[in-house]
Amino acid sequence: MAIGLTADRSRSDTHWAHEQEVIGPGLQAVMLWSKLCVERAEGAMLTDVDRHDIVDFQGAGGVNSIGHAHPRYVAALAAQLATTPTGAFGSPARLDMVNALRRLLRAPLDRIQLYSGGTEAVEAGLRLAKSVTGKHEFLSFWGGFHGKTLGSLALTSGARKGLGPMPAGFFSAPYANCYRCPLQLTSPSCGLACVDAARDVIKRESTGALAAIVVEPVQGRSGNVVPPDGYLAALKEVAEEFDALLVVDEMMTGFGRTGAAMAHHHEDVTPDIVTVGKGMGGGYPVTGVISTAAHMASAPFSEPSASSSSFGAFPLACRAVATTADVLVEENLAEHARKLGAELLDLLRPLADEAPLVGEVRGLGLAIGIELVADKATKEPVSGEVLRETFLALLEAGVLVMTGGNTLRLYPPLNVDADLARETVDVIGATLTRGAR
Ligand SMILES: Cc1ncc(COP(=O)(O)O)c(C=O)c1O
Repeated sequence: MAIGLTADRSRSDTHWAHEQEVIGPGLQAVMLWSKLCVERAEGAMLTDVDRHDIVDFQGAGGVNSIGHAHPRYVAALAAQLATTPTGAFGSPARLDMVNALRRLLRAPLDRIQLYSGGTEAVEAGLRLAKSVTGKHEFLSFWGGFHGKTLGSLALTSGARKGLGPMPAGFFSAPYANCYRCPLQLTSPSCGLACVDAARDVIKRESTGALAAIVVEPVQGRSGNVVPPDGYLAALKEVAEEFDALLVVDEMMTGFGRTGAAMAHHHEDVTPDIVTVGKGMGGGYPVTGVISTAAHMASAPFSEPSASSSSFGAFPLACRAVATTADVLVEENLAEHARKLGAELLDLLRPLADEAPLVGEVRGLGLAIGIELVADKATKEPVSGEVLRETFLALLEAGVLVMTGGNTLRLYPPLNVDADLARETVDVIGATLTRGAR
């Protein structure tokens, strides 16, 4: 298959320029860099308005779970649209969603409340944690990302410049980022010293009102940083020491992405609250808060209209979740992601020795990070300009990736054809080995 961009992007350039006359600034960096205007998409492939074929490993940052235009998904949503009411009624779609989710949710975390944006679900998770505990403080982690509204932004250390003041009662601790250990230690001999550091932060900062520890099981925006085994279980113990909850933000990692239905299933741990979205709807904007029946019964969260939202559980959203969940289960996609992700990681890891800019390759399932450094010894991150040039070199070679910090992030669809994935990884390897500049 011929993939890649040729010199002629005239239609895209004109199309993009017209759109930008009205669209506001601040779009995703990779969209601004690529100026991709996509006419059609299927599986893992995009075709732009200039008829270039591009492999999509950007996957909307993990949203594209079952591939673009999965035939079963297209048929189900089209049929739903023809009869769908506008409103969050009980509906056949909602019943089908409930039955589909039963196959993915693990007791006791078997209740879900639906929203339409990730940050909205995270905010609902904070409200639920406050309702359960009667407390209002939160600990989150350096490098984490949880959204851009006030509560989720306050959890997102490092992205607040110019947006203050932040609400009181939010504090943060170093994440288990072993490539760049903030404590200058090495895993496993460190004995998860960063968890002790989190405990210290709570002791120093909290007024005794810690409601929850909020953590990503794999830090997505920081470049798919994977913590060592046992990290979530150790954080759950810390939360319990302070009579607080563990909230696991699975927005990117949930619904098969890391090779299990939820990333926390890789560990023997039961969080109190899980926030989900992205891959759950297969492209439809639907997100959720998952918890136990007992937690969800807590007021004020449980009071009428207290945890609802305008679009939560509209039939189209429910149909999207039901169909995506059915496809995930029936096509065994978490297992495919686990096996193929491990194989792709094996193919990519040598780049840390062979490619001039690659500092580390890491990942879990089909969430893969390739961290770019200017100097392998000091691990100095590449500049934004080098990141952009590398991203554009990959795009020219026909591969669209996501970025985050100084890392290239790969999120193929969970049903990506294994041969296409291997070929794409070859293209990435060859481009990075050549040196993008
Ligand atoms: C872990 C995590 N939580 C929350 C969010 C916020 O989601 P949204 O952009 O839909 O508000 C994101 C988005 O990337 C995310 O990765």
